[in-house]
Amino acid sequence: MCGIVGYTGKRGSVSTLLDGLARLEYRGYDSAGLAILETGQLKIVKSVGKVKNLEASVAEIWPDFENCIGTAGIAHTRWATHGAPTEANAHPHLDNSGKFAIVHNGIIDNYLDLRKHLQEQGCTFKSETDSEVLAHLISQCHEGDLMHAAAAACKKLKGTYGFAVICVDDPDTIVVARRGSPLVIGVGNNETLIASDIAAIAAYTKRVIFLNDDDLALITPDKIDIRNIENVPVSRETAKIDWDIAAAEKNGYEHFMLKEIFEQPDAVANTIRGRLDEAARTAILSGLDMTAAETASVSRIVIAACGTSMNAGMVGEYYFEDIAGIPAEVEQAAEFRYRNPIIEDRTLVLAISQSGETADTLAAVREAKNKGGIVAAINNVVGSTIARETGRGIYLHAGPEIGVASTKAFTCQVTALLLMALLFGRGRRVNRCEGKNLIDEIKSIPELIRKVLARSGEIERVAKKYAGAEDFFFIGRGCMYPSALEGALKLKEISYIHAEGYHAAELKHGPIALLEERVPVLALANDIPGRDKIFANIQECRARKSPVIATATEGDTQISEFTDDILWIPRCSRFAAPIPTVVALQLFAYYIAKERGCEIDQPRNLAKSVTVE
Ligand code: F6R
Repeated sequence: MCGIVGYTGKRGSVSTLLDGLARLEYRGYDSAGLAILETGQLKIVKSVGKVKNLEASVAEIWPDFENCIGTAGIAHTRWATHGAPTEANAHPHLDNSGKFAIVHNGIIDNYLDLRKHLQEQGCTFKSETDSEVLAHLISQCHEGDLMHAAAAACKKLKGTYGFAVICVDDPDTIVVARRGSPLVIGVGNNETLIASDIAAIAAYTKRVIFLNDDDLALITPDKIDIRNIENVPVSRETAKIDWDIAAAEKNGYEHFMLKEIFEQPDAVANTIRGRLDEAARTAILSGLDMTAAETASVSRIVIAACGTSMNAGMVGEYYFEDIAGIPAEVEQAAEFRYRNPIIEDRTLVLAISQSGETADTLAAVREAKNKGGIVAAINNVVGSTIARETGRGIYLHAGPEIGVASTKAFTCQVTALLLMALLFGRGRRVNRCEGKNLIDEIKSIPELIRKVLARSGEIERVAKKYAGAEDFFFIGRGCMYPSALEGALKLKEISYIHAEGYHAAELKHGPIALLEERVPVLALANDIPGRDKIFANIQECRARKSPVIATATEGDTQISEFTDDILWIPRCSRFAAPIPTVVALQLFAYYIAKERGCEIDQPRNLAKSVTVE
């Protein structure tokens, strides 16, 4: 989604802003812009398309921009919601006096009313965006104090925002405010930064302050003044982030997605590290902050998530029921909120989100808290809004995930869910011996992934063969069913091939009508319970002339009789199987997308973190 960066200090502000925007590119966007205050003037540059187009426009207007010190500046990458991706709609937006510039993330629900009202008072609008009302509102409310003006404007807004404003009257000052869209302040030495995402500023400082909803902050190079919307000072902790900036770069891989696929053995090892109690044959998940009595009292688990995180949650549903014997269900987070869900006091609501900022998942967390459930999260981004609002959960420690298509977050989420099922199961029906087996399986996951990665050349060869397909089906059963959904999601989002994930048994209830020789089927036929039935489903597909590719367990001598191509997966239990299998499907999607010349790290229309409903 949209990204914000701001800088005040003595470093070249234009190049710092451009660098910050480039680090936010992974989030997905369609235009970009920046505004800086230099020698009492507000300078603005915008462009449609990539940050490098903006850089070219900046260099044209401003040949010596690398040396431009400036004072304060704000910048933005926009992902169009209200109005097409044009220069006029790109941020920053100005008020009519040209003194105030704003950048905004989120959606102002009442912008039409505000716009009408402002127009009646003589304001002219230059864009179709909801955001522009903010520039005019702040300008109208300004009586010499920028923070007061921003707070007064906030009171008139309905909807969500994270915004930053600068004004020619306060050359080294930026005021920011947040409600619903993340904002973080980077504390430097005689310089201060702001961003919607720490990736933009982690190269400059490791000390950060996360703002809460309804916080405003006035920042200068050496001052950070945080207040609530009623102008009462509030104190927010300074946290230290452990992000290594190298981890947010490609390290020689052609794409972030490929780098992140190959990082999975280490990422999963980090999720597991320190969380296995071999003596007690259980998991240690202290972040859940639940006593043994509390875990034992949970009568039902409801998982709320979106996209890939929801697919991981569906694997978790099998784990909780099959291993721990706890009824579990997965809810699409957007639906959960509006469906008036039944949450008893012994229901554990588990929000799964890589970013911890997904608007629908956050709304589900708030709904569950209102209803009195026990709410916990599985997140990757430390200090994210969902992590802070739930206050308990499991961090993945997977490192930054930059590629828009989620890969290592999925495998780490599934691993975390298996750890949770072990912990909850040991308090119920999992005996010591079964506990030990599960621990051994969990410990083997990094190696299982390594073995799949070692076959990437074979997977690439198979993928290239099918790169011309325009439709694809992925089928699976048991916990390979959500794995099929995830395989189809990966393929469609990065290669733009129409791909559907189905339960293998469901195929004959409709979708089978679409099968023919141009529609390949990828069947998850690993040697785990349910394999015989998958074999029958494969035959149904072949009878309709669909080419069949299967994931199969190494050493399976039967499968090649039934299939055209095979992606080999090391032998493992049904609980571990989704992880190496999905890694093979990630590689399959990646190589197809590469063969088709797609923009793999930033697929069209997609954003890394979806902060609008
Ligand atoms: C797909 C993908 C999305 C996200 C979804 C939820 O590859 O990345 O489907 O999984 O937008 O995002 P998080 O996990 O950040 O809540």
